[in-house]
Amino acid sequence: MRPSSNFETQEAADVKTLKRLAPYLWPAGEAKLKLRVIIAMLLLITAKVATVYTPFFYKGAVDALATPDNELINIPILLIMSYGLGRLGSIVFGELRDLSFIAVSQSALRKLAVKTFEHLHSLSLAFHLERKTGGLSRAIERGTRSIDFVLRFMLFNILPTILELTLVTIIFFTEFGPMYAGVLVVAVVSYITLTFSVTEWRLKFRRSMNKEDVEANTKAIDSLLNFETVKYFGNEDHETKRYDKALKKYQEAAVKSQYSLALLNSLQALIINAGLVIAMLMAAQGYVAGDLTIGDFVLANTLLIQLFMPLNFLGFVYREIKQSLVDMEQMFSLLERHPDIQDKADAVDLHIKGATIAFQNVDFGYQDERQILHGVSFEVRSGETLAIVGPSGAGKSTIARLLYRFYEANKGRIIIDEQDIASVTQKSLRQAIGIVPQDTVLFNDSIHYNIEYGAPGCSENDVIRAAKQANIHDFIMTLPDGYQTKVGERGLKLSGGEKQRVAIARTILKNPAILILDEATSALDSATEETIQKALVTVSKNRTTLIIAHRLSTIQHADKIIVMDKGRLAEQGTHQDLLGKDGIYADLWQKQQRVDEARETLKQLNDQL
Ligand SMILES: Nc1ncnc2c1ncn2[C@@H]1O[C@H](COP(=O)(O)OP(=O)(O)OP(=O)(O)O)[C@@H](O)[C@H]1O
Ligand SMILES: [Mg+2]
Repeated sequence: MRPSSNFETQEAADVKTLKRLAPYLWPAGEAKLKLRVIIAMLLLITAKVATVYTPFFYKGAVDALATPDNELINIPILLIMSYGLGRLGSIVFGELRDLSFIAVSQSALRKLAVKTFEHLHSLSLAFHLERKTGGLSRAIERGTRSIDFVLRFMLFNILPTILELTLVTIIFFTEFGPMYAGVLVVAVVSYITLTFSVTEWRLKFRRSMNKEDVEANTKAIDSLLNFETVKYFGNEDHETKRYDKALKKYQEAAVKSQYSLALLNSLQALIINAGLVIAMLMAAQGYVAGDLTIGDFVLANTLLIQLFMPLNFLGFVYREIKQSLVDMEQMFSLLERHPDIQDKADAVDLHIKGATIAFQNVDFGYQDERQILHGVSFEVRSGETLAIVGPSGAGKSTIARLLYRFYEANKGRIIIDEQDIASVTQKSLRQAIGIVPQDTVLFNDSIHYNIEYGAPGCSENDVIRAAKQANIHDFIMTLPDGYQTKVGERGLKLSGGEKQRVAIARTILKNPAILILDEATSALDSATEETIQKALVTVSKNRTTLIIAHRLSTIQHADKIIVMDKGRLAEQGTHQDLLGKDGIYADLWQKQQRVDEARETLKQLNDQL
């Protein structure tokens, strides 16, 4: 994911990541959001100034009370009231700052997430097949969460703390003198150095925790997904042990991480309190010497305690920001990936006349080392039906993927209505083609939603008409929830044949000029096959149709049949032509006939019993 990391250090990469984020925080052309950023910054400063100056009221009150001859009791009251207001102010201004900024950060998150999502859909099939979908959605999720985190902590923790640090150092310098400021600076610098270096060292425990966590999770998910297999082999104990082993490693790493955190916290406390004690000793000395008041002594203590409070989180913030930057970089690098298949600069829309298709000497391989198609040439005339048959792995589905331009041919041309598909826009090409894939996957929603998907926003009647044409309406009506029946994840609650008919219905709604049907490999029973067959006859009317068939009986009436064998076109012609040739097709046909006869006999026997 990070091809650049060989050349640049992590720091350089982090800076780059932050730079890429910047435009979203100062969004061009969005004056309102910019105003919000400015207001948030002003509120941030106000809140910090209030925080830092509030202890002065406290000091004033202490001094007033400590001076015995002071009879004006209303002076400490005023000071105490101001002290309360100051404390309240620093909280309220902080909250207002968050409110003002939330719209900015949320809009940045939304825009980035949407942009990444859109981009992912523009990437090629090859990209998606290589990657785990879960991993992709996690990259977006983690990326956006990190942005939220980085913004929040950079702007609302680190920046204000730096501001406070500066103000307090100035106060120490002017109110108490350079010695005090020196103690403060030494304490803070050693605190920060310690925190960063220990946190860096601790990161390895954290990393191994994450690694073991992922490991355990993957094992658990894989095991649960293979639920049936586990049962088939009675391997529940084995699975549980494997899971436990992964969890044990996590546990060990977690314990180490906690120990190292305790160490860090203790060392931090040592530095803070040493600094505090030294400053207080100096102030006490100053009081004895008559240079400082009791109030000054209290002031020094309060300012220091206040200052060290946000520093407490520094280790956590440092670690999380580092991690967040890596997560963000992963998301940004997804955005950098260019789609493998891009429209040519001068691409025009495909213009459909009769939807004739021609493959001319097409060579293709998914990888360079393994060629799948060898010089494939064929033609389908307007409105005709072409059947593609051949053994498994012969390259039949590959032909469909090339026609849809999921991949690009290495050699040769694919022509639709005299236009090379490589020089038309992908959108117009894909608009013209409807595919009912070999293994249909449905959205985890209602049947209605899945059919309507072919033409989003179409009328209820259209959906029903399409379902009727696809021969699935009657079945849907037998379901208790009818069209509102949920189909389950990937459509698993429907049978293979039902899913395929839903897919046919949604393709009918798309109403494409070219139809590709990739028949399911698993043998459907003859009744289902017949219904699908009928549906197909209706759908393929007046359309150029490619049927990839496994059962030859379904394609006897095709205008033309091509027989693929090991990526080459072995035979072509009509059913009768091919039977006459006595080649691969005739052989396949006889085998299937025999299987059919055997099935028929079995069925009759069963019926008699
Ligand atoms: N994404 C891919 N990456 C690499 N090789 C692939 C990919 N998809 C398919 N193949 C290979 O290409 C060859 C042709 O596959 P294809 O899916 O076209 O076969 P098919 O004729 O449709 O087979 P079936 O009848 O089983 O559906 C197979 O050997 C397969 O292993
Ligand atoms: Mg196939």
